[in-house]
Amino acid sequence: MTGVVRGIVPSPVAFEHLGADVCGIGESRPRLSWMLPDRAAGSGAPVAHELHVASAIGEETFIAPGPGGVLSPWPATPLSSAERRDVRVRVIFADGSRSEWSPASFVEAGLLRADDWSASFVGATGADADDPLPALRRVYEVRDEVVRARLRTTAHGMYTVFIDGEPIDDALLEPGWQSYHHRLRYRTHDVTRFARTGRFVIGALLADGWYRGRLGFPLIARDGVYGSRLGFLAQLELDLVDGRRVTYGTDDSWQWRPGPIIRAGLYDGQHDDLRHPVDWSSDGGWMPVAVQGSPSARLVAPSAPPVRAKGTLAPRRIWTSPAGRTLVDFGQNLAGWVRLRVRGQTGTRITLRHAEVIEHGELGARPLRDAAAEDSVILDGRGETVWEPRFTYHGFRYVEVTGWPGSGPDLDSLEAVVVHSDLTRIGWFSCSDPLLDRLHENVVWAMRGNFVDIPTDCPQRDERLGWTGDIAVFTPTATLLYDCAGMLGSWLEDLALEQREDGTVPYFVPEIPIPHEVSHLPGLSPEPAAVWGDAAVLVPMGLYEATGDVRILARQYPSMCAWVSQVERLAGDSRVWETGFQFGDWLDPSAPAEDPAAGRTDPALVATAYFARSARLLAHAADAIDLPEDAARWRRLADDVDEGFRLRFLDETTGLLRCSSPTAYALALHFDLVPERLRGRAGAELVRLIRDDGHRIGTGFAGTPVVLHALSGVGADDDAYALIQQTECPSWLYTVRMGATTIWERWDSMLPDGSINPGEMTSFNHYALGSVATWMHEHIGGLRRTAPGWAGVHIAPRPRGGITAGSASHRSPRGLISVSWQASDEGTLRVEMQIPAGTDAVLDLPGMDPERLGGGMHVRSAALDPRQEASTV
Ligand code: BGC
Repeated sequence: MTGVVRGIVPSPVAFEHLGADVCGIGESRPRLSWMLPDRAAGSGAPVAHELHVASAIGEETFIAPGPGGVLSPWPATPLSSAERRDVRVRVIFADGSRSEWSPASFVEAGLLRADDWSASFVGATGADADDPLPALRRVYEVRDEVVRARLRTTAHGMYTVFIDGEPIDDALLEPGWQSYHHRLRYRTHDVTRFARTGRFVIGALLADGWYRGRLGFPLIARDGVYGSRLGFLAQLELDLVDGRRVTYGTDDSWQWRPGPIIRAGLYDGQHDDLRHPVDWSSDGGWMPVAVQGSPSARLVAPSAPPVRAKGTLAPRRIWTSPAGRTLVDFGQNLAGWVRLRVRGQTGTRITLRHAEVIEHGELGARPLRDAAAEDSVILDGRGETVWEPRFTYHGFRYVEVTGWPGSGPDLDSLEAVVVHSDLTRIGWFSCSDPLLDRLHENVVWAMRGNFVDIPTDCPQRDERLGWTGDIAVFTPTATLLYDCAGMLGSWLEDLALEQREDGTVPYFVPEIPIPHEVSHLPGLSPEPAAVWGDAAVLVPMGLYEATGDVRILARQYPSMCAWVSQVERLAGDSRVWETGFQFGDWLDPSAPAEDPAAGRTDPALVATAYFARSARLLAHAADAIDLPEDAARWRRLADDVDEGFRLRFLDETTGLLRCSSPTAYALALHFDLVPERLRGRAGAELVRLIRDDGHRIGTGFAGTPVVLHALSGVGADDDAYALIQQTECPSWLYTVRMGATTIWERWDSMLPDGSINPGEMTSFNHYALGSVATWMHEHIGGLRRTAPGWAGVHIAPRPRGGITAGSASHRSPRGLISVSWQASDEGTLRVEMQIPAGTDAVLDLPGMDPERLGGGMHVRSAALDPRQEASTV
């Protein structure tokens, strides 16, 4: 058969990790990805693919062997700055038949060379941090016919761009947070429709953002980490009908005036006075800008989607508190802000204070520490006003409203706007236990609340930093739920840039300089610390495993090596890392509220276990990027560390560890540090400890991501289920029982009596302990990845804990993989599966030989072992 298979149409080609139709990419040879429709899986994996690449001056076709579609190499001549190509693909099957062509998608390069830029930063003259935030503008009169117009924008501070008063895109909190000393992100906008009109006004509002605003927790907090002057930079490129390109960079032809924003800070909130609107087109009141010079940081194109408003939530309830305050519950803890709709007299000031919880009937604002988390607006009295802030965000479920005119707000006058990086959801889970479903939902919400341009620890208090340890343990889960390779890949570039020569990784990236007076305190100035520093290895490896993207590994490889070499030096000949400051098994529930590092597990054990893990992963990374000699070197090191670990921590006659805690055993077992012959003994000890704790959780940041895997790995699934289904404190479902809608920082952020944990560090939205979702997908859902980029999966549902149905699915680079199972009362397990072509799937059902499944839909049944079925401990 050689014809076209009608109805089999590949998805539009996506570029790098940015999706289809990209305007302003920072790559001259973007890699290409596409998927076949799910129903094409039955036709087998394509044997070849054909790419059609069209430019303004011609077109070319390229045929390459293999199915392609997962970051396939760019086939054509490299893109030059601002150049656009349209790309289509079709695939060729073994019988010679072809799919239809995909719809064309376009990719257009940004500015690829520093000398493509001819713009300077411009800002207000003489304005200081207490003045209203500036508005800037320039009027353009274009006489020639414009066929294409591009506007490239960035800022020192946060910004929104308007043309003729209209915001030109829906990206929020731009330019996001990079290590601005090194890199600053710009966006490219297609503004052709505005430029065609002849006269138009480009304007921008600026705010402090991460550049100038207060950043950091109390001991280290400071303003102006990157600078004290806000500045806007833009370059407008007009392609005229006669073939000329005219470029206008921001310069002294721009003007400024104070805008309607009195002040705006990430932690403290935004305050607007609508009586002073900006009239972009009227010429009154504008003053010449201060020209601040050209950028010193590298201007970089986005490698991930921007932050956007990702939905709204209506209030569940509005009521009056015991102290007489108006409180609103949005029913979900989230990151974002409140949009309000109101009528009121001019000068009326409405204030919103945000918090995550209610305590003693009032807003529980203590966990916010020094973040005021307060927005306000002064009305202009001109009819109905719809208002929301844009240059702050809050972590909240509740707001307290003051100053609302008349009888107060009603359910229709407020909505919560959910704000985070606009990542594509790719992983789902559900099961018959509603508490576990809610737990999973809480993990998703914790991720949404903390993937706000960078991976943060929390969205509510005066922190919101890119804490490395948190994302080190959460990356496997994050990549299971959302496509975050672009976003975390960008963050990793900053990690590498801020990493010290000797390999030390800052505790949070981007870094905030630590004031001299406190720099001697432990845990502030960057020093090598396990788990946190291991982010240099665990995050890129997690991205590679999820996507198969070796370029991320190749780029991060020097950073990964620097970290492992640093630990190698610190550990010395014993290979046991026992020096310096460690966070240890941070927030082990037995640690005192005020000393979260003082858990049950020897910090040297945690540090050495993670050293072994990182060294082993680094060997895999070297293999993946084809550096066999390096791989051998790291493998030898990993073997040595394994041995060093055993010599120090394992009694090889009893199989017991010298430090007894669930985390110690979970790490030793899951990271393969226990010799095969002793695994049974060590496993039994882990089970004993878990049972002694009454199946309450006993692990912190270091042990929690692995404890259930370790139990399942030694055949103790019943104990794993008992641990995850525990509802007493501390446990995951305790938080659900207490009404949590996100994952908490502490197992008992809210104490059983409904009061907030007295620790000064008590957030209700931290993702680290949500790393459990990976085990839920793999063991309850039954779907586990076995090869990078989901080229292989293992499907093995094992119903337990009274759970009678489960499902897990993942939109992998090759297509949707899904597993859905049900256990009947009669003891039959029925499993439905969907596998994309080219994914190597092995089905492993109780009592049956493993079976290899091809692409397509499959249904199988198996008899359940009555001892396994729905058993509980
Ligand atoms: C953050 C963490 C972080 C920890 C380490 C906290 O304040 O919220 O999640 O990893 O500090 O010190």
